[in-house]
Amino acid sequence: MKDIGEYIAEHSTRETEALEWIKKQTHIRTNHARMLTGAVQGRFLKMLAEAVSPRNILEIGTFTGYSAVCLAMALPGDGHLDTLEINDELEDLITEGFARAGVAEKISLVIGDAKESLARLRKEILEDGTRPLYDLVYMDANKREYPEYYDLVFDIVKPGGYILADNVLWDGKVCREPLPQDRQTVGIATFNEMAARDPRVESVIIPVRDGLNFIRKIR
Ligand SMILES: C[S@@+](CC[C@H](N)C(=O)[O-])C[C@H]1O[C@@H](n2cnc3c(N)ncnc32)[C@H](O)[C@@H]1O
Repeated sequence: MKDIGEYIAEHSTRETEALEWIKKQTHIRTNHARMLTGAVQGRFLKMLAEAVSPRNILEIGTFTGYSAVCLAMALPGDGHLDTLEINDELEDLITEGFARAGVAEKISLVIGDAKESLARLRKEILEDGTRPLYDLVYMDANKREYPEYYDLVFDIVKPGGYILADNVLWDGKVCREPLPQDRQTVGIATFNEMAARDPRVESVIIPVRDGLNFIRKIR
């Protein structure tokens, strides 16, 4: 019997040359290639974003830029993506990948701690009015901080906009009883509870790869 993951990959649209390049360079130049979004989820992100038709996207957790490229591919000509990453050593690889994918003009890479970057973005959007609200936020940085990211991004997402969070099944750990008490599992489990109980949103967990929580802000 075939492995179901292999079957899915073989029967989904292949990744572009630029994404293949990012994947290869990630394996060569980093020790954390397992953090890559990958071809199937990357394609799903692009298609989901196209269905949502966003003009402004925020990504928290760039890594080597794979998911940022997938999301940027869904943007219209005047669309924009801001992506936040703490590790400045990744900058050269990220920017080369964006250029190869032809999406460099549409993306701003913000190096720094996500919570600090989010505080700045909140000020520019909510107080100064110098930036538009986001149509879509993709959350994929520090799993311990998902509850804080949720609170920080909520007001800077348009009513009717979306928040998408990756790894929300955390390899099934969120279902274990008793819940493992490591900070990453607790962070994700708390975040999933927040979304499920929040009357301001509707949400569904999609079991793609490690789980995507797809949340729509209804008010
Ligand atoms: C799972 S990876 C992101 C994968 C990426 N979205 C992709 O598809 O290729 C998580 C990234 O979040 C970054 N990160 C972790 N904590 C962060 C923080 N506090 N602020 C900003 N980025 C952070 C890590 O350095 C890492 O590159």
